[in-house]
Amino acid sequence: MLPLAPVRCLLLAATASLLAAQPQPPPILLGGAWYPEQWPESRWDADLQLMQAAGIRMVRIGEFAWSSMEPREGQYTLDWVDRAIAAAARHKIFTVLGTPTDAPPAWLTQKYPDTLRVDENGRPAQHGSRRQFSYTSPRYRDFSRRIADQMAARFGHNPNVIGWQIGNEYTDDSFDESARRLFHEWLQAKYKTLDELNQRWATAYWSQTYDRWDQIPMGSGRQNPALLLDYKRFVTDQWRAFQRNQLDAIRARADRRQFITTNLGGLGWADRFNRTEISADLDFISWDDYVGQGHLEPYRNGATHDLVRGWKRRNFWVMETQPGSVNWAPVNNALDPGETRAMAWEAVGHGADCVAYWQWRDAPNGQEQYHGAIVGPDGEPLPIYPEIQQIGEEFAKAGAALAGTTPRSEVAILHDYDSRWAIEFQLHSNRYDPVEVLLGYYRPLRDLAQSVDIVDPRAPLNGYKLVVAPSLNVISGDLAAQLLDYVRRGGNLMLGPRSGMKDEFNALHPQRQPGPLAAPLGGRVEQFYALLDSVPVAGEWGEGQAGIWAERLSANSPDTRTVLRYGAGNGWLEGQAAALSRRVGSGTITYIGALLDRDLMRSIAHRMIDAAGVQPVFGPAPEGVEVCRRNGSSRDVFILINHNARTVDVRLPRPMLDILGEGQRVESVHLPPQGVAILQSESRNP
Ligand code: GLA
Repeated sequence: MLPLAPVRCLLLAATASLLAAQPQPPPILLGGAWYPEQWPESRWDADLQLMQAAGIRMVRIGEFAWSSMEPREGQYTLDWVDRAIAAAARHKIFTVLGTPTDAPPAWLTQKYPDTLRVDENGRPAQHGSRRQFSYTSPRYRDFSRRIADQMAARFGHNPNVIGWQIGNEYTDDSFDESARRLFHEWLQAKYKTLDELNQRWATAYWSQTYDRWDQIPMGSGRQNPALLLDYKRFVTDQWRAFQRNQLDAIRARADRRQFITTNLGGLGWADRFNRTEISADLDFISWDDYVGQGHLEPYRNGATHDLVRGWKRRNFWVMETQPGSVNWAPVNNALDPGETRAMAWEAVGHGADCVAYWQWRDAPNGQEQYHGAIVGPDGEPLPIYPEIQQIGEEFAKAGAALAGTTPRSEVAILHDYDSRWAIEFQLHSNRYDPVEVLLGYYRPLRDLAQSVDIVDPRAPLNGYKLVVAPSLNVISGDLAAQLLDYVRRGGNLMLGPRSGMKDEFNALHPQRQPGPLAAPLGGRVEQFYALLDSVPVAGEWGEGQAGIWAERLSANSPDTRTVLRYGAGNGWLEGQAAALSRRVGSGTITYIGALLDRDLMRSIAHRMIDAAGVQPVFGPAPEGVEVCRRNGSSRDVFILINHNARTVDVRLPRPMLDILGEGQRVESVHLPPQGVAILQSESRNP
């Protein structure tokens, strides 16, 4: 009998050679949503041929095909899926399988109406669209697990299936009986006693006191803010359980080689549930990058990629993006020639390892006949096809350089779902948009540092030289301790208005803002003001205007510096402190109490970046040229995108390999409008 160690070695070697024998997807993938069930099988090959010629190496299939996979209860018909995967593989195209649980078949909801979603007014959804299911229904979860299990049993070892997408764009919560029951159980598990809940929620207010769990209402609207915040957390947990149910079924059957992800919609910033938490169970996250009406807004779109990358703090996929136009905006204009390519490279620059188009071809009928596609109803290429083909060629060319690289930043912006919700429940000024506030910080910081992470406040922060929290409304004792630890060790923390007002129960902190960070700041917010008109501010940090929101601050420690003060214009604010800064341990805490105009924000960002010692990842670049860096163990890959309407020349800080050119070393690049350059150099900070 062989000793155990050599046997293990033999097994490992056999597994490695088996894996080596299996086809491997390229590092940067071009993909598309393909719906083989909508077409006669005789047409598949022609479509796949055209996809292959466009450089498409991945198709996502199945996510709306439940009625074709289980036409009658318990009768699974997956042979066609098998044939579609094999047909794609013949064209060197890998498959991502979507579980079809976003669109249940008619027999299911008709026979089991308890699986239907119920809206807040008690109306059940009906068949004919999608998302008509209740995400909490135990029966629906059973059916979902069964179809996921059947699919995984059949395709979990298929070498051409590289991964799984669970459901699609989790969206609507439900107000059916099972959801209410679960909400009450959830609250009971959290608070244990009604006394505790009544106290944390301050239910003496408006006589809300509860003496039975089932008295507690469920929903949005004008409820108690504590209830609203808990409801969002409940919704998050329910979607996570909905996902976990299928994830476990797939994991139990599928090769570890196959990844499991989902596709998050809502244009990235949607906050129906906590996306950091939903991402936790997945191998990586993917999202839908749509512009809708208008054109690519590089900062907003780039920031959205950074937000998505922050959910798992790793590279992600763009599972859907528009080939030209969508069908759901007020005006569904097309992106300009070259803009789709610029958008694809922006995604990769911010950490996407796949960009997939929705969709390959419009169904002959159905609700989305007008949506952008790559081939027309005749099955022939549409005008966008050559641009997609160019992206495919470039992804293939740049893949080796980009393999194993990821963006790395010295600056982080904190995005916190609890805080977003807490502010959105009580905006106080309908001009205060927490996402716009975040973007107000992002733009100048991105320009100066050329790489910014957007992360959850509970993420490890020690690697960042500068951490900015634009509206960190909810700061628990634990979070305050973590932030303070970051500062004491040399970090620079900049808090924006509305920070530190609430605890984790959405209750007002007994001390004023920024709550538990007021003492370390050596100052506090005396009062907040929603502004109708702007107010001038000036001080050692420059001068400008405060608008929308302004807080009157006061310093109560001799070493807390008042770096901005309000001028005349609002009697409550006149002459009062608008921004404070203090050294704490080896770092600094800064509190900015107002929303400031763009120029002043830029000069503050400059100051903070300089003081924190943040280096731009590339160096000087002309205005309107977006610089992205992906860092590998021994190399940096820069992606430069010209968003200007004119041609620009960019001098490189050092000679670099021009990946999309002939692979020669260059010292400058010439970028036409929408032009892209991919440049490789040795890494400066691996
Ligand atoms: C979403 C969905 C797709 C499709 C597109 C249209 O992203 O996931 O099924 O409806 O929108 O833009």
